[in-house]
Amino acid sequence: MAIKICGTGSYLPKHRVTNDDLSEIMDTSDEWIQTRTGMKARHLVTEETTTMMSAEAAKLAMEQANVSAEDIDLIIAATISQDYIIPTLSCEVQRELGAKNAVAFDIGAACSGFLFALNTAYSYLKSGQYQTALILGAETLSKMMDWEDRSTCVLFGDGAGAAIVRNMPDEEGIGIESLVQGSDGAKGMVLACKGRPVKNPYVETEEERMSYVTMDGQEVYKFAVRTVPKAVKEAVEKAEVTLDDIDYFVLHQANIRIIESVAKHLHQPIEKFPTNLQECGNISAASVPILLDDINRKGLLKKGNRIVLAGFGAGLTWGAAVLTW
Ligand code: COA
Repeated sequence: MAIKICGTGSYLPKHRVTNDDLSEIMDTSDEWIQTRTGMKARHLVTEETTTMMSAEAAKLAMEQANVSAEDIDLIIAATISQDYIIPTLSCEVQRELGAKNAVAFDIGAACSGFLFALNTAYSYLKSGQYQTALILGAETLSKMMDWEDRSTCVLFGDGAGAAIVRNMPDEEGIGIESLVQGSDGAKGMVLACKGRPVKNPYVETEEERMSYVTMDGQEVYKFAVRTVPKAVKEAVEKAEVTLDDIDYFVLHQANIRIIESVAKHLHQPIEKFPTNLQECGNISAASVPILLDDINRKGLLKKGNRIVLAGFGAGLTWGAAVLTW
C-alpha cells in the first residue's frame, strides 16, 4: 500500500491588505516589510471564521480526491487560532462537512502543525486503523496579533489549507516516503502567546489584558536557518534519495530570506522553492498546505515528481516530509 496525498484545497479571506494599507494605520512602510520579508500583502478575515475557511478548503480537497464526507474516517486540524477552545476545530469541520464516520481532533504545533498532522495521519493509516484522512492547517492569526506591535503583526495572515491522505494500492504511486519531526521546548519563549490568566476563587490575578503573540524575530530567524536545512537533509536521507532528486521544496512561508538561506545551504536552485508569502504572509499551520494547493492547481506537480514539505516555528518545533506525487 502507498499512503498518498490525493487532493488539496485552500481558502484565503476575501479582504486583501497590502503593505501600503498597513502603512496607513501604523508606522511602517512597503519598503521595510518587503526588504525584510518579501511580503507584499496578506489576507485578513472580516466575516470568515477558522471553521468556515477550513470547511471550504476541505471541500475542494475532497472534490479533487473524489472522496465523500462519509468516506473520511479521520480529521486532524492543525491550528493555534481555532474559533472555540471546545469544541475543537476538527469537530467543527466534521459537523460542517457531515463527516459522521470520522474521529476528529486538533494538533497544536504552530507553524509545523501541518507536518505534524501529516505525520500523525500517516501513522494511523500505516497501522491500518483508518483509511482516509482529512488534514487541515487553518489559522485566523489576525486575532492573535498585538496590532500595536508593528514588528510582528505585519508578518502574519489568515487562511486555511487542506489535504486528503489515503491508503492507496501500490499502482497509484509511491506517496509519502519519509517523515521527520522535532521539538525544542527549552527555546519556546522566543515565539509565544500566553493562555488565559488563572482566575478562580483562590487566585486573584491582576492580568486582565488578553495575551497576544510576542516574538524575538532575530532568534527565530537564527533557529530557522539552522534547523530547516538539517531537517530537510534528514528527511531526504531517510527516504534514501538525494537533494538533487527533489523537484520542489515546499517550505513554511515565514520570510523570503529564510527560504533563500535554506536553498543556499542545500545547494539547490531557488527555482525549486515555490513561494506565496508575497501574497499571503505567514499563515502558520496553513502556509504549507495553501502553497501545496497553489502549485498543485497551477499544474506544477506532475505524477512522479518528488517533493519536500517542511514546517518550523513556535514550540520550537519543526517537521519535514519527502513524498512522490
Ligand atoms: N516597519 C518599520 N520598522 C519596523 C517594523 C515595521 N513593521 N518593525 C520593526 N521595525 C523597526 C524596529 O523598531 C527596529 O528599529 P530600531 O533599530 O530603530 O530599533 C528595526 O526596524 C529592526 O529592524 P531589523 O533589526 O533590521 O529587523 P530584522 O532584520 O531582524 O527583521 C524580522 C525583523 C522580524 C523581519 C526578522 O527578524 C525575521 O524575519 N525573523 C524571523 C521571524 C519569523 O520568521 N517568524 C515566524 C517563524 S514561524
